[in-house]
Amino acid sequence: MAATYRVGIVGLGRVANTIQEEVLSYAGRMLLPYSHTHAYAAVPRTRVCAVADIDAQKTAAYVAQWQSEFGEIAAYASYDEMLQNEQLDIVSVCTHAPLHAPVTQAAAQAGVKAVFCEKAIATSLAEADAMIAACAAQNIKLVINHTRRWDPYYETALALLQEGRIGSVRTVSAHFAGELVHTGTHWLDAMLLFSQSSAAWVSGALAPGADVARDAGGSAQVGFHNGAVGFIDGQSGPQFEIDVLGTAGRLRLSNSDAEFFTFDIATRTMVKRPFPLVAYPRSGMQGAVAEIVHCIEEDRPSRSDGHAGRAALELALAVYASDASNGARIHLPLAERDRVVLSR
Ligand SMILES: NC(=O)c1ccc[n+]([C@@H]2O[C@H](COP(=O)([O-])OP(=O)(O)OC[C@H]3O[C@@H](n4cnc5c(N)ncnc54)[C@H](O)[C@@H]3O)[C@@H](O)[C@H]2O)c1
Repeated sequence: MAATYRVGIVGLGRVANTIQEEVLSYAGRMLLPYSHTHAYAAVPRTRVCAVADIDAQKTAAYVAQWQSEFGEIAAYASYDEMLQNEQLDIVSVCTHAPLHAPVTQAAAQAGVKAVFCEKAIATSLAEADAMIAACAAQNIKLVINHTRRWDPYYETALALLQEGRIGSVRTVSAHFAGELVHTGTHWLDAMLLFSQSSAAWVSGALAPGADVARDAGGSAQVGFHNGAVGFIDGQSGPQFEIDVLGTAGRLRLSNSDAEFFTFDIATRTMVKRPFPLVAYPRSGMQGAVAEIVHCIEEDRPSRSDGHAGRAALELALAVYASDASNGARIHLPLAERDRVVLSR
């Protein structure tokens, strides 16, 4: 019989559980399940066995809500105690970013099989490197929740790109409102994914009045090793969108739309095509949890592993470095590993 994986969750706030209710009122396409817990409930091979939160009311409410689904759930005030007492296979790190590194390192030390860590991976590159090293040392699968990587619309768009349907990528523009690290890493990760390359340099500026120790909005130009150019528009809002322009077409993905165009040479126009979405029965979050099981069993890295998570953070931090040098081109890899940007 196939194994059931024992899951522990650290931090019982929105993304761990309650965001599921929240997104029901959002406009646009919201694929469910949306929280870690709802995704574990949807994947039959995983069972939440233990949870930890410093807020006793949250652990009590969580157990009351979920014990009929998962059976007995052990509740802890300390994640260290949870990791010591429970034999866990998968740990979800659902605290704010400053705790992602310490919780991930503690989980690695406890000998879990996979860590499913929220974005942004960490608040500095040094922390991200420590997380990657701690997991690599014990062959633990580190998975960063840039959820769009498993979203069927993004999977379809990537397949179209890889089939050459929009030609070679020339520009990738990421539009979002909010901070570069907290919100931005979702979109910077998508930018890296669709560039089909890696970033060579970044030139940009933080939003006016930004505190450089804290997460802030900003805008930048990114040069990719394959010659494509990226535009980070992280301060205009309210549109959340990734726009990929190729030599033969275009892909545009927002929270409400997924569009595919091909360029018609005879008429010199972009022709809108049906977006050929395969009818997937699952959300990005469910796809992530399902992939974690495959990564463990097939001993392979996730499509959204620690290195991918680090690369998105590096792009955001490169905007800070460029801002500090009056918009100078900052060549990657970023030499500065210790800059800490406090993010939620
Ligand atoms: N991938 C997504 O779409 C998505 C969506 C929302 C949030 N997030 C990310 O999830 C993370 C958490 O965000 P949130 O909105 O769920 O936050 P939240 O404030 O709702 O929840 C955080 C929880 O962590 C608990 N906590 C704090 N210190 C702790 C400790 N030492 N041990 C155990 N628990 C502790 C808090 O009591 C709280 O319940 C952030 O990194 C955020 O960026 C991701």
